[in-house]
Formats: sequence, C-alpha cells, structure tokens
Amino acid sequence: MIEKLLPHGVVAVETFEDAPGEQSFPGEESIVANAVESRRREFITARRCARDALAKLGHAPVPIRAGPKREPLWPTGVVGSITHTTGFRAAAVASQSVLASIGIDTEQNHRLPDGVEETITVASEPEMLAALSRRFPAVHWGRLLFSAKESVYKAWYPLTGRGLGFEDARVAIDPMGTFAAKLLVAGTRIDGELPLVELRGRFIVAYGLIATAVTVPSNARAA
Ligand SMILES: CC(C)(COP(=O)(O)OP(=O)(O)OC[C@H]1O[C@@H](n2cnc3c(N)ncnc32)[C@H](O)[C@@H]1OP(=O)(O)O)[C@@H](O)C(=O)NCCC(=O)NCCS
Repeated sequence: MIEKLLPHGVVAVETFEDAPGEQSFPGEESIVANAVESRRREFITARRCARDALAKLGHAPVPIRAGPKREPLWPTGVVGSITHTTGFRAAAVASQSVLASIGIDTEQNHRLPDGVEETITVASEPEMLAALSRRFPAVHWGRLLFSAKESVYKAWYPLTGRGLGFEDARVAIDPMGTFAAKLLVAGTRIDGELPLVELRGRFIVAYGLIATAVTVPSNARAA
C-alpha cells in the first residue's frame, strides 16, 4: 500500500500483523523497556519493517535508535520514516541521493473525534474538507488531512530540527490522490539547502486505512 505512494528508488516494507513473541532488536530494548505491550508490539514490528527495507537497500541490520524528538536515527546516507496504527505497521527508506527527506503516516479511515478538526485546520481547509466530503462521503477527509499533516511533520523535522504546528501549514487535497502543503512559517533547513516552501505528497485509502506520504527530493534528483 505505502509503496504505491512513493517514487522509484524508495523502499517500503509493511505488514498487517505482529509476529507473536518477537523480541526487541539488540540496542533498541531501552526505547520501549517501560512501554505497555501494545506500544512494544508496534515498535518491534515497525522496526523490523525498517530493517527489512534497509536490507533491500543493501544495509546490514543495525539498531535504529530514536533522537530527542522521537525521530528515528537512520544509518549514514539514509532517510526514512515509520508509521503504525491498529493492524498496520510500515517503514520506508531511501538513499539520501534520492530523497532529502520522507514522512509516512497511516490512520484508521474514521471520523475525527468532535472538536479536533477545528484544532488542526487553517483558513480555507474546513471548506475544502466539506466539499470533498459531499463528493466522496466514504472517505473521512478530516482524518486524511490530519494524516497528511503528520507526514508533513515527519518529513519536515529531520530537515529543519524544529517543531511545526498544525496551524503552520495549509494543505490542498486533490481527490485524485495527491496533496500540497504550503508552509506558513519559514522553512530554513539545517543542511543549508534552499528553505522548504511547499511539501508535496500522495495518499491512498484502502483496507479501512488512510495512508499518506510526503517526499522531498534530494538536490541531485530535483536537478
Ligand atoms: C510525531 C507524530 C507525527 C507521530 O504521530 P503518531 O500518531 O504517533 O503516528 P505514527 O504511529 O504514524 O508515527 C509514529 C512514528 O513517527 C516517527 N516520529 C516520531 N517523532 C518524529 C519526528 N520528530 N520526526 C520524524 N519522525 C518522527 C517515529 O518513528 C514514530 O514511531 P516510533 O516511535 O515507533 O519510532 C505526532 O505524535 C506529533 O507529534 N504530531 C505533532 C506535530 C504535527 O503533526 N504537526 C503538523 C504539522 S503540519
């Protein structure tokens, strides 16, 4: 499912099941040592997906530690992203020569809880969501917007080292399966490359889930 959202050269591995009794990978146990069982399961399975994806890029299995903001710390020269939701775990990785950054996110295709849409939207987004809901009522577009913004954040953070609020990006959704997130704050990058202005992504709704992916091409690829 996730692979359909990604350009050539990006590897995604996903699963709808946990392996019963699977243990944490050496070097990662401390990250989930005190976590509840459901958190351990999602972490262990998604990290396995990540290592399987890295193997397809030719990388030996290594622990994938987490940074101060919980971001996964990938081997040198690799960018990647992890997502998990009930009944689904996935990871996507690419060489830095292909992508500068990537964010993937999955959500259940369920209505957002009351009051949440108001907190994650900026001007013009509520009208867009209402229009999409009228045309395509099987999709919970508020949830899709939420997922798109989570993917934006996951791609944004490693490039900028800064937080990003839901009010800091305006997302325009094309119901054919793409979206564009215009950043409403300065997108200065820590690698000195041109600032981020707009991030682009794709989405799919399948198996009762919403999946979104944002990719930022590397300069080499963009050129
Ligand atoms: C970090 C966040 C996006 C994760 O969302 P979630 O609902 O837990 O979603 P998922 O389960 O799909 O993703 C979790 C994974 O995201 C990754 N992640 C967490 N923080 C991250 C960060 N700062 N940068 C990149 N990836 C990050 C991790 O790999 C994590 O899984 P792990 O802890 O098992 O390694 C969310 O908790 C958050 O903080 N959101 C607020 C910021 C935001 O979304 N702003 C919108 C800007 S428009």
